[in-house]
Amino acid sequence: MTISIKSTIFICLFSSIINTAYTQQSIPQKVDALLKKMTLAEKIGQLNQYNGDWEATGPITTDVGNKLDAIKRGEVGSILNIVGVQHTKVFQEAAMQSRLKIPLLFGQDVIHGYGVTFPIPLAEAASWDMAAIEKSARIAATEAASGGVHWTFAPMVDIARDPRWGRVMEGAGEDPYLGSLIATARVHGFQGMGLGNLDAVMACAKHFTAYGAAIGGRDYNSVDMSLRTLWEIYLPPFKAAADAGVGTFMNSFNDLNGIPATANRYLQHDILKEKWGFKGFVVSDWGSMGEMINHGYVKDNYEAAEAAINAGNDMDMESRSYINNLAKLVADKKVSVKVIDEAVGRILTKKYELGLFSDPYRFSDADREKRVLNAPEHVEAAKDIASKSIVLLKNEHQLLPLSKTLNSIALIGPLVKSKKEMKGFWALNVGDEKEIVSLFEGMQQAAGKTKLLYAKGCDITDTSRAGFAEAYKIAMQADVVIMAMGERPDMTGEAKSRSDIHLPGVQEELIKEVMASGKPVVVLLMAGRPMVFNWTADHVPAILYTWWLGNQAGNAMADVLYGDYNPAAKLPITFPRTEGQIPIYYNHFNTGRPARNDNDVNYTSAYIDLPNSPKYAFGYGLSYTTFKYSNLRFSKKSMLKKETITISFDLQNTGKYPGEEVAQFYLRDMVSQPIRPVKELKGFQKVMLQPGETKTITFIIDKEKLAFYNDQLERITQPGEFRLMIGSASDDIRLQDSFELTD
Ligand code: BGC
Repeated sequence: MTISIKSTIFICLFSSIINTAYTQQSIPQKVDALLKKMTLAEKIGQLNQYNGDWEATGPITTDVGNKLDAIKRGEVGSILNIVGVQHTKVFQEAAMQSRLKIPLLFGQDVIHGYGVTFPIPLAEAASWDMAAIEKSARIAATEAASGGVHWTFAPMVDIARDPRWGRVMEGAGEDPYLGSLIATARVHGFQGMGLGNLDAVMACAKHFTAYGAAIGGRDYNSVDMSLRTLWEIYLPPFKAAADAGVGTFMNSFNDLNGIPATANRYLQHDILKEKWGFKGFVVSDWGSMGEMINHGYVKDNYEAAEAAINAGNDMDMESRSYINNLAKLVADKKVSVKVIDEAVGRILTKKYELGLFSDPYRFSDADREKRVLNAPEHVEAAKDIASKSIVLLKNEHQLLPLSKTLNSIALIGPLVKSKKEMKGFWALNVGDEKEIVSLFEGMQQAAGKTKLLYAKGCDITDTSRAGFAEAYKIAMQADVVIMAMGERPDMTGEAKSRSDIHLPGVQEELIKEVMASGKPVVVLLMAGRPMVFNWTADHVPAILYTWWLGNQAGNAMADVLYGDYNPAAKLPITFPRTEGQIPIYYNHFNTGRPARNDNDVNYTSAYIDLPNSPKYAFGYGLSYTTFKYSNLRFSKKSMLKKETITISFDLQNTGKYPGEEVAQFYLRDMVSQPIRPVKELKGFQKVMLQPGETKTITFIIDKEKLAFYNDQLERITQPGEFRLMIGSASDDIRLQDSFELTD
């Protein structure tokens, strides 16, 4: 009896497998079958992406009516900058009138939130909190997907060592290790449980590559760098994104060592698709294909299309080089149908994976859109990560946290009452101002019986001092002064490079004026990049760097000011003393004549008019409590390549507030060929400790942590001494010792 039940089940299962095999094709089979039905023109259409009817980072190039007609003719594979269930539906309906009814893919720059705006990515990076960063991307994806968006052009994973570059706000800072973890977290966040789920959007690792190393920090500028630096510093976050399963890559506007990224076969074909085995597709940056004419790399769009497609660029964002030239390039035998099929196949695969062929309108559910957008739990999460992004730069005499029993606080500065500014650049869905909490409103909520006084004092970039007297007057009336100063949000972002990154206008003059009142002053600095503010840094007792924190900015700032949240963020990028130090980064080489300290300028690698050290180092950030590092132990002091060493130490909260510390672990390879940096971040742990509590922290050193690229770009290890450094910042090492790699 038992046997017969088992065999019945087996027969049923077997026949169902057989049936499935006959009736259900795999995605590669479906893609092949569809490719066979497509004309060359239809294939080329899939490689073509148009902007919608909304101007973002480039002009609207065709009117909507023409665009809908082109979609009906099968000439468009994807549209960007069309959002919202109703809106996307109109365009998808046009695609459903094309001969093969291939659905459109809707792309959008969902960079730090969709309905609810989260802190700018650089701010989130300061949290060093991968769970929070992933959650922020997860929520952004849930909201965007409910608004009909299939694909976000994020995360930007460009390493940036130059705060003049406006797009520094959009990445994770200067470090390849931290940047790789954040790239992974963001890809996981956006893509959730995987493409095909209704709350997942396809992610896009951009800009491939080295875009952040633009000479002089000027956006779109050339990049000239050794391949070793490329592999050591700039590629790791892209590799991490690929390993995390990112669906797409976007190439970049810059040339790399003379070859525009858009036509760079070494990058797109050899590294990405061959070496890393990336199965998704590559989209160009906006018009970057056509810009190769300006680069002087090709003479016209015909040559641009040829160079790009043969280099591995699959989709053309808004240059029209593919749609206008690929058919002729095939006829002229400059581009093979095989190359086109491969590109189209990659794009169709993603459309299948997203489930668009089964139901092209599956992301078009108006009820869901209403339910999901700006949900209360999204707002709560935005506040949580905003608090986690605020860096405490200075806190003399424990001025912070503020007491709740103060009689009065003066709120001074051009950003005290700002609302939409809190969103920063790349917040494309501006939404309702009512949903954004200014610092003033956050303080009103939190201040209880404390009287709040307000004076603007000055504007951000204006030079008028007309408001100084009023600011001084209210400072004199208050127990404590809080000043909200910074950039305008449109002073960072795309095409927003600055040669002068000082606190703009007369803001530092206003700070001096208010400090003359003798009252305790807390300065909040809001910006999308590291700024220069030396007088403030040297004279003001308490400073918080708040970046742009998004919708919940005011509440998060108030929480930190009152100590309802104890700040734990650490700088993901070095803050220079002046622009003259740029590029400046912690993981530099030692040189043959290293300066022993900031005064050691006698024929050393130093400036005679400026210390070498930055104003604030990578990894720096204070807490309201203090931490003691002690008792460094090694499981052993030498290792073979196949072995590991476990190191541990004790971390104690020695202050009076519960708080988190980001304990950082750096290594230096003391002798190697080629040479290695003075310090490289290899691990960190964010640990919560109650006052007096001690925890043991453990890191494991394995071969991979000791490996690097030699001059042949092979990843190797070399035996010898390594210096291990544990600390609270890259320039605040508390414990160190050496160990050996012996083979
Ligand atoms: C930017 C990209 C962005 C694209 C679409 C370009 O100008 O460089 O990062 O995704 O526009 O908006």
